[in-house]
Amino acid sequence: MQETDFPACLADLASAARARLDPGVAAFFDGGAGDERTLRANAEAWQDMTLWPRVLKPLTGGHTRTTLAGCELAHPILVAPVAFQRLAHDQGEWASALAAAAQGAGYVLPTLSSVPMERVAEAVLPEPARGPLWFQLYWQADRGVIRALLQRAEAAGYEAIVLTVDAPVQGMRDAERRTGFRLPAGISAVHLSDGGRGTEAAHADAATFCAGVAASAPTWDDVLWLQAQTRLPVWLKGVLHPLDARQAQSLGVAGLIVSNHGGRTLDTAPATAQALARIAEAVGPALPLIVDGGIRRGTDVLKAVALGARAVMIGRPVVHALAVAGPVGVARLVRTLRDELEMAMALCGCRTLADATPALTSLKSP
Ligand code: FNR
Repeated sequence: MQETDFPACLADLASAARARLDPGVAAFFDGGAGDERTLRANAEAWQDMTLWPRVLKPLTGGHTRTTLAGCELAHPILVAPVAFQRLAHDQGEWASALAAAAQGAGYVLPTLSSVPMERVAEAVLPEPARGPLWFQLYWQADRGVIRALLQRAEAAGYEAIVLTVDAPVQGMRDAERRTGFRLPAGISAVHLSDGGRGTEAAHADAATFCAGVAASAPTWDDVLWLQAQTRLPVWLKGVLHPLDARQAQSLGVAGLIVSNHGGRTLDTAPATAQALARIAEAVGPALPLIVDGGIRRGTDVLKAVALGARAVMIGRPVVHALAVAGPVGVARLVRTLRDELEMAMALCGCRTLADATPALTSLKSP
């Protein structure tokens, strides 16, 4: 793909991906739960927030750098865990991780990766400009399986565990059901003995599946157990309620990812922008927050930071970019979002991300 052919913005990237992907795969990537209210609300909530620019501020020496978990990052953009990325590109998670690292973006590898975690780590760790490399954990009924995953992640060089807590059962995603989507032969969750066929991509017997998975869903006690099993910091992903955020904080988690799974689990759950503002207020500045869901513009990233997020994650745009232009596409995607963020910062009078405060999105004086 020529430099000039790459889609101008993330919405164009999504259209280009849809034109290339098999309809079932497109439904798996893009679909949301139920009537997709939360899916739409995520993007709309960022779009609907107003930015109140400040003018005539000195911008010399401005930058997008931030710190997260003790690391300095070139910018506050991470790649979210997205299952089965080989559906978008033959090299799957290896390709997206390599591109993210080259662009200084953090990377969260899913339990349901279609590429082994060691291969992904080998691609990422030597990159000097890389962001953090984390492993996302879906709770497993057998604790021996969890221990083995943790040991593998630690040995391979992953730097934190992200426990996803918003999917004790998976959402009803009608688009997938309509297309009859099934994982094609040759693509599976390589870390799990059943290849992940009982998880993100299974619909044949939803009721049995729900009963089985719910019975082994994690609880707050399991978070403590998990923290005791690993020397790595543990983040929770999928927290929306401020009371849950407070409880997580009291357990000493490393941070929270304010997320509704991209609107794929509980429909009519709040948009993440809405939840972020409340959680930031509930936990104060000491607990690092990351937010994801519907982040599609640099202005969205700036708004998230203004509301109290240390960083953002992007999910669907990454698989869109993989489908359109492989690893080069993912690199271009991160660069596009970062460029947009830089422009938004300059236009709002923010020299650094520390200048993005709640006052930027309201008329309250700073
Ligand atoms: C996801 N997400 C996800 N989350 C997780 O913790 N483990 C997983 O395996 C997956 N798998 C997955 C597959 C697909 C196709 C999508 C679209 C999403 C959720 C993901 O990490 C993130 O929370 C959302 O994608 C963020 O929203 P946007 O950026 O896609 O709007």
